[in-house]
Amino acid sequence: MSSMNLALFVSDAGTHLGGWRHPRAAAPQPPDLAALRALALHAESACIDTLFIADKLALDDIHGGSFASTVETRAIGGHAEPLTALAALAGVTTRIGLAGTVSSSYSQPYTVARMLASLDHLSGGRAGWNVVTSVSDGEARNHGLAQHLEHGERYRRAAEFIEVVQALWDSWLPGWEIADKASGVYGDASRLRAIDHAGEFFRVKGPINLPRPPQGRPVLIQAGVSDDFRRVAAARAEVIFSVQPDEAKARDFYRSFKAEVAALGRSPEQVRILPGIVPVIGATEREARELDRELRALVLPRAGLSFMSASMNHDLGAYDPDSKVFDFTDRITGSKGRFEAVVRKAIAEGLTFAQLGKWYGESLSFLAPVGSADQVADVLARWYRERAADGFVVLPPFMPDGARDFLDKVVPELQARGVFRSAYAGSTLRETLGLTVPQAE
Ligand SMILES: Cc1cc2nc3c(=O)[nH]c(=O)nc-3n(C[C@H](O)[C@H](O)[C@H](O)COP(=O)(O)O)c2cc1C
Repeated sequence: MSSMNLALFVSDAGTHLGGWRHPRAAAPQPPDLAALRALALHAESACIDTLFIADKLALDDIHGGSFASTVETRAIGGHAEPLTALAALAGVTTRIGLAGTVSSSYSQPYTVARMLASLDHLSGGRAGWNVVTSVSDGEARNHGLAQHLEHGERYRRAAEFIEVVQALWDSWLPGWEIADKASGVYGDASRLRAIDHAGEFFRVKGPINLPRPPQGRPVLIQAGVSDDFRRVAAARAEVIFSVQPDEAKARDFYRSFKAEVAALGRSPEQVRILPGIVPVIGATEREARELDRELRALVLPRAGLSFMSASMNHDLGAYDPDSKVFDFTDRITGSKGRFEAVVRKAIAEGLTFAQLGKWYGESLSFLAPVGSADQVADVLARWYRERAADGFVVLPPFMPDGARDFLDKVVPELQARGVFRSAYAGSTLRETLGLTVPQAE
């Protein structure tokens, strides 16, 4: 059976910006290993491909030029740095993938190569890296710059960053280890090589100082929409997290992106396209609709506007909340592709800025199916069978019950439809995703 691929977006408060206020949501708390562990084991018992922990490098502080609206409207305390949290989870899980975000704009490739290789070793080959270029000036200001790198420049940097990291992972060739106690020869130095990289952004001599990761290269994930993103992702990414709320457009994106991958000489099967979903699940359709209404009523427009301002890198606090949205897309310097579509939709529907903030806070513009487990599973199975997706990133609206509803109710429905596995096929993330191990040439 071919299986769809499912990533569980692990967050402290859920994706729906009203989620943390719902009576079923756990009280937000500082990073907590017991809660993470319980969720990871639960997801592993459901055979989920991978956990995924996102990251930003600042408290959102673009809206109104301050972090105040973020702190005042959203649950912000419980987000651990992803690789630290995933390393802790490596010790309590055995099969599930451990994927996290590390920015290529504000890190150094040698450090990142070591951290991810370490996670891959310590987890027995389960590491995944969501390489992002970051979005806001707030993130730049925490790293010695006044402004975020320009869009094209940060993707050029990302491409070079990935190239260096992967070259470092490949810098130990098979057969390096001799470990001959009798002669005292430990390793064959000729099997390790400097990478001598000198590019636009980085100069790295190499080799790395630890053996090649069990997966060869930890799985490379990218999320985005823009043309700059597509150019880098088609050449290198193995998993794509996309934002595709519309089924026909998702099918078009699926087809055209896989064609771009093939045109570069790569196998389209070796790139898994996973749109994000925020499922709102009830025992019946009526209950799900009621839950959806409750969640929507809990979103404050300012919560959505502060999130969007940071993601766009443009201060929406500068506009009257009750005025109609107009075309300001040329001022977006953060996440471009996604927000051009969001602004177009707001204009077409005649929304005010406050209404836009509220609408965005309800789903972050992801596909948000509302229904019984049976109905939600039908949607996911159809998207998978009709090649609109290879699977999904599941972003529960609130935590942890939103995740439990999906794992306990929707996953069995997907298994019953024959579109999702009931046992892991192997032990590495590559095996689970059906990706080959790249050879070090
Ligand atoms: C499921 C999903 C997860 C994401 N996780 C992160 C993240 O952890 N950090 C981040 O800066 N951006 C994250 N993003 C946003 C994108 O990586 C990226 O910053 C942005 O969409 C790219 O903008 P572009 O379309 O203009 O290239 C995520 C997007 C999606 C769909």
